Amino acid sequence: MIVGFIQNSPRFGEKQENFSQIATLAKGIIADLLVLPELFATGYTFTSKEEAHQLAETPDGITAGFLKQLSAETGAIMVGGFIEQEGDQIFNSAIMVFGDNVIGTYRKIHLFNKEKLWFSAGNKQFEVHHVNGMKIGMMICFDWIFPEVTRTLALKGVQIIAHPSNLIMPYCQSAMVTRCLENRVFAITANRIGRETRGDDDFTFTGSSQITCVNGNILSAATTEKLCVNTIDIDIHHADNKSVNQYNDLFKDRRIDFYL
Ligand code: ACM
Repeated sequence: MIVGFIQNSPRFGEKQENFSQIATLAKGIIADLLVLPELFATGYTFTSKEEAHQLAETPDGITAGFLKQLSAETGAIMVGGFIEQEGDQIFNSAIMVFGDNVIGTYRKIHLFNKEKLWFSAGNKQFEVHHVNGMKIGMMICFDWIFPEVTRTLALKGVQIIAHPSNLIMPYCQSAMVTRCLENRVFAITANRIGRETRGDDDFTFTGSSQITCVNGNILSAATTEKLCVNTIDIDIHHADNKSVNQYNDLFKDRRIDFYL
């Protein structure tokens, strides 16, 4: 399976310009799964709830339409972040698209920092989607700091986690080594680059998007500063084997009587 990420640098609020940047980056790429960052078309640093509402969409909006077009061009399942509207609520969501179909959305359950002012916390369970020969789950950025997220997806049978991100702290990329190793799953952390200075906030996003293997090896890593598309060929079935040696199996050895 050819899997990868697109590391972009969106301009706040300029969806069409941000789509164009990604379309240019993805030109000629053929893959099975491509992951884009969190909120890849809107930018991240909102100054009011109204501003976030104005950029929100339903899962049949223009961002899903752009991902469908990209899926047709690349052959890949596409995953990326968007602001999802449902009734009066908006969520920091990720959407998975394959061909002309929306496979599902995930609504970020662990909101980071001022996201709590703009978004409702996710209200749906984690799902594992069986698509294109892979078992794929989604989590978003700060979810990495809660090991329960990767573990829940792993226990539900995930082979690869699509992890759209807008990271500003320096810890996630190395933490994903442990997340993948302790669950024997693959993960694609797609991060953005660039700086957003809006309202009281001044955020520099850390890039360094990464594909992490079931044994904790980093299979592909981007720089902190460059736009890029990285893809690699993986054997997804490595994620099905949870044994560490003849005597230890990561799932069978769990002692759930002793855990909270
Ligand atoms: C983050 O969750 N965007 C840090």
